[in-house]
Amino acid sequence: MTGPEVVAHRGATAEAPEHTLAAYRDATVVGADAVECDVRMTRDGVLVCVHDRRVRTTSNGRGVVSALHLAELEQFRFGARRGRRDRWADDTITAVSDEPDVEDGRVLTLDRLLEYVTATPGSVRLAIETKHPTRHAKRVEQELVRSLRRYGLLQADRPAQWGGKPAFRVMSFSQLAVRRVQALVPGVPTVQLIGKRLRAVRTELLAGSMSAVGPGVALVRADPGFVAQAHAAGKEVHVWTANTPADIDFLIGLGVDALITDRPDEALRRLGRG
Ligand code: G3P
Ligand code: CA
Repeated sequence: MTGPEVVAHRGATAEAPEHTLAAYRDATVVGADAVECDVRMTRDGVLVCVHDRRVRTTSNGRGVVSALHLAELEQFRFGARRGRRDRWADDTITAVSDEPDVEDGRVLTLDRLLEYVTATPGSVRLAIETKHPTRHAKRVEQELVRSLRRYGLLQADRPAQWGGKPAFRVMSFSQLAVRRVQALVPGVPTVQLIGKRLRAVRTELLAGSMSAVGPGVALVRADPGFVAQAHAAGKEVHVWTANTPADIDFLIGLGVDALITDRPDEALRRLGRG
């Protein structure tokens, strides 16, 4: 493979609402190398693919994911938000989608996504981001590991290998969450996501035990030399969320290892793979 791995952010969210099987299917169809998903835990301990703390932004329901049982979430219709090709700066909220390709609108559990991905092993890898690390203590990471084992993605504590690469990796903005995953299964690749200025965390990151660092594209634009420094320290660089042609080309030129985007088709085209 030449160029960075192309990772579809919450699925191909320019094409279908985030965290729906339709968005993940679109990503696979266009040939994304991996798909990203955010996971949160429900009150009854089920991991679901929902980005925001509250469900009102992506469903017709109300409430906080961690305070609701799965059965309650299943009463809501999900599939409300998607990326828009013409308004990348916005998190544009559209009406709850009536598109037939949003399936039944049921909240997507992590298990349903794993079932989809493992139905054709090797078709697309997974980049799983854990949210809200403190609310449930270690249960999010423990349940994640259980699910990965259940679907054969973790075998004897090693990630399954697809196309010579781990079938999945775990990402978080929380250092605590990354450390917990490393402690539970040391062989799992981890990505420390970064939302702060790189200068403030550079030394710590370069010395850290994560396999990759994940800055936002604006941070890389402000500090492009970071990519070579991270490589010299043996870390991959996975950058989010690159949607404009200019950002995509900039990151390809810098030699980043993974490019997380709402528009995997555009990124693949610019890499000459689409
Ligand atoms: O893949 C990392 C990226 O998804 C982090 O930002 O807010 O979209 O989860 P966010
Ligand atoms: Ca995410």
